[in-house]
Formats: sequence, structure tokens, C-alpha cells
Amino acid sequence: MPLKDDNEIKADEITPKEVYLNRREFMAASATAAAAAAFPPLAEAQSHGGIPMKIEKHVDYAGSEEQTLYKSAAGYNNFYEFSTNKEDVAPMSKNFRTRPWTVTIEGLIKNPRCYDIDELIKRFPLEERVYRLRCVEGWSMVIPWVGFPLAGFIKLIEPDSKAKFVEFTTIHDPSQMPGQRRDVLQWPYVEGLRLDEAVHPLTILSVGMYGEVLPNQNGAPLRLVVPWKYGFKSIKSIVKIRLTDQMPVTSWMKAGPLEYGFYANVNPEVDHPRWSQATERRIGEFFRRKTLMFNGYAQQVASLYAAMDLRKYF
Ligand code: MTE
Repeated sequence: MPLKDDNEIKADEITPKEVYLNRREFMAASATAAAAAAFPPLAEAQSHGGIPMKIEKHVDYAGSEEQTLYKSAAGYNNFYEFSTNKEDVAPMSKNFRTRPWTVTIEGLIKNPRCYDIDELIKRFPLEERVYRLRCVEGWSMVIPWVGFPLAGFIKLIEPDSKAKFVEFTTIHDPSQMPGQRRDVLQWPYVEGLRLDEAVHPLTILSVGMYGEVLPNQNGAPLRLVVPWKYGFKSIKSIVKIRLTDQMPVTSWMKAGPLEYGFYANVNPEVDHPRWSQATERRIGEFFRRKTLMFNGYAQQVASLYAAMDLRKYF
């Protein structure tokens, strides 16, 4: 190991705080992992404090890239209903009530109805899917989500042949969500997908992460995960899913129509009007890395957009 130079810049002077903290966390986690390897029964007892989930299948869709530490994924969040400060979301959502919880399914479908969240979870075998998540702000993570393909759910609710889009809505409850008492966005948070995007095999409804029930700050009890799109499409704490023939107007499109389009596909060639999208900072890493077309999922999804001008449909 090279000797330390006295002039060496300290990590906390050149590294954003969250990355720096993340490295310390990494070292602490390595020490824990080493201890766990020495005492295997301890490793099995490791938990992040959540409720373990029964998972039928594990698939890594992130090419063996190192997973983001749980502490970062659960401690650095965008969830404007609680706070616009990423580190405040976890403590502020601690007491958010996720039971009882129903999801209303309506619009152009055969049987509009409400599902109890636990009834819904029991209907589908849970899978663990390791996906990259790329936020529009320029950071990214690799997260093992637990969930089930949205396609299976859409099939169950039997859409009408006129349905072309799926609209998702987050709970509106200002008494529990202080951010909804301010006009940061138009509430409730709304997102949408084209029906073919919604039934794509990579699109999931997530109910957990890292083998445990989803923490509140990550969108409990039910959130969307669409790995080839910017993170803001992955709407949290969903209470309503509506099938429609009209393109939904999402909260971000209302907030900044020139900055946030309906498609929001990760695209290093189309800049956000105020910053480049060519590179990203993987949380826990020091150097920026190149952003990949469709977040690295081009092989699976590029055909959905074959005839489209992605500068116009951003
Ligand atoms: N869903 C709701 N309801 N409210 C939000 O503010 N933020 C989005 C998305 N889903 C958001 C939301 C954004 S901008 C991102 S990057 C991801 O959630 C962050 O998910 P994470 O905190 O699990 O990493």
C-alpha cells in the first residue's frame, strides 16, 4: 500500500457527503461481512429491520454490478410527499400507515374493483429483480426489488380493446404527508405508461427490496419500477390504477412540460434543458460513469420505440 502523502486531499473535502458517508458505510459493511463469513449463523440472522418476504425466483438484470448498500437505497430518497430533502424522507415517513390499504382498479377494463394489498400480494409469486435505477437528477443505484410483473396484473383485470395507457396515482393524505400541504407538485402524484410499456416483462409492481417488505420511504406498500426510464416514473404508494385511451398528464409534465416528457426514457443523447444526461454518479462510487441508452436495457426495450423520434418524444 503506498504511503500517505501529507498533502493528500481528505475524502470529505472532494466527495459529496452522501458518497463519502457511503464509503464509510461500505467499510463498516465489509467488516460485518467478514465477521459473518467467520460465523455463518450470524449471516443468516442479518436483517435490515424489515419483514422478510417469500421469494420464488431471483434474477439479476444489472449484469453483476455491485448492489447499492441498503442504507443508501433506504436513506437517500425522492418522495416529495414527505420532503424534498432526500435524507429527511426516511425519518419523516417512519409512521406512515400502509395498512389497511386498497388499490382501486378502474377505467377501460372488464371488472372495475378494489383490491386489498395483501390479497393482491398473495395472488402473484414474488420475484427478486436486480435493476439499475437512474434518477433524472444524475445519480443511480443498483437495487434488488421484490415484486411481480405488472403484465400479470393487467391480464387479470382484463383491459378493454380501447385501452391504450395506464395511469397510476399515489395516495393523497396531507394529514400524513406534510409535503402535500405545500404546492411543490400538483397532488396527488400521477404517472403513466403506454399499455405496451406497462405489459413489458421488465415492468414490475414492487412490494419489497433486499428480501424484505418495502420501507415506507421507498414507496410502501406498492410502487412501480420501470428500469429503462428515469426514476420519477417509478411512482410510490399507489392507490389507483386506471386504464384509459388518453395519454395521462403526469405530475412532472404539469410541473415542467419542457423538462419532463411522458416517455422519460433514459437517454444519454437527449439532455435535460438545464443539464447533460450523458453521465451519472452511481451512489457509492467516486467517478462518474457513462449513462447507457435505456439505462442498459436497450436490447429488451428499444423495439418499443422503433419508429419514434426520441428527441421529440422525450
Ligand atoms: N413517487 C411519488 N409518489 N412521489 C415522489 O416524489 N419521486 C420519484 C419516484 N417516485 C416520487 C415518486 C423519483 S424523482 C425517484 S428518483 C424515485 O421515486 C426514487 O425512488 P427511491 O427513493 O426508492 O430511490
